[in-house]
Amino acid sequence: MDIRNRKILIVGGGSGMGLAFARQCLDRGARVVIAGRREARLSGARNSLGHPDALETMVVDIAQEDDVAALFERIGRLDHIVSTAADIGGAYQLLPQLDLTAVQRVMNSKFYGPLWLAKHGAPVLSGAGSITFTSGVAAYRPAARGSVVAAVNAALEGLVRALAVELAPIRVNAVSPGWVDTEIWSSIAGDRKDETLQAMAKRLPVGRVGCPEDIADALSFLIGNGFTTGSVLHVEGGHRLI
Ligand SMILES: NC(=O)c1ccc[n+]([C@@H]2O[C@H](COP(=O)([O-])OP(=O)(O)OC[C@H]3O[C@@H](n4cnc5c(N)ncnc54)[C@H](OP(=O)(O)O)[C@@H]3O)[C@@H](O)[C@H]2O)c1
Repeated sequence: MDIRNRKILIVGGGSGMGLAFARQCLDRGARVVIAGRREARLSGARNSLGHPDALETMVVDIAQEDDVAALFERIGRLDHIVSTAADIGGAYQLLPQLDLTAVQRVMNSKFYGPLWLAKHGAPVLSGAGSITFTSGVAAYRPAARGSVVAAVNAALEGLVRALAVELAPIRVNAVSPGWVDTEIWSSIAGDRKDETLQAMAKRLPVGRVGCPEDIADALSFLIGNGFTTGSVLHVEGGHRLI
């Protein structure tokens, strides 16, 4: 699809997969808004992305419905909304160590946040527009310590299917990544990030973990393919087969 001059909001665009997708969209001529909670992170992303005339940054915490409503008032008309937002580090715990705050942070970033984005974003989307969220392989291959993330990813996918019906003709989809080398692993594995990712790579049929660009490619497909809605696109190196 030709995305020149299309306007695309990427929540989570300050890092990881969202940043890779922002780069791809800008290189293809789109106008991009990257959003997240931390101004410093967005400024760093702005400096690395270039295309200053086509790029805006906006601070938002998608956990806060008022914040999300205000974001869309500032942005105006949009063609596509994508969220790769996640705040999950503290929730990777066995049940005895789980506390409500960490659980709520996952819910806020990966369930309530997408819900508010859809509620307040759908009215500013063009009829040919789309909304794409990011779930994850934990919903299909749960691991000990990952119960909350597994459950929230599954809930998000249920939401996607329901919204695809309710918001039609706007298309609503999710990409479900497997293990991808991004900053998120610093919050999960700390200084064991590299060895953790290397061990994971050996277990996957493709022999490597993902890179953010693998997921950016999938997001491009989902926003561009007009016959895809209510779908979950798995980009996980064969993880569900092992
Ligand atoms: N990396 C993997 O291996 C993997 C595997 C499966 C699924 N996933 C999923 O893929 C998505 C992208 O992951 P990633 O690795 O690219 O993560 P990442 O680099 O940590 O990026 C997450 C982004 O979300 C933003 N964010 C978090 N909470 C937010 C909130 N409440 N409001 C607005 N922005 C918020 C963060 O910015 P601020 O902190 O500045 O807000 C950050 O830029 C996530 O949904 C993740 O669960 C990742």
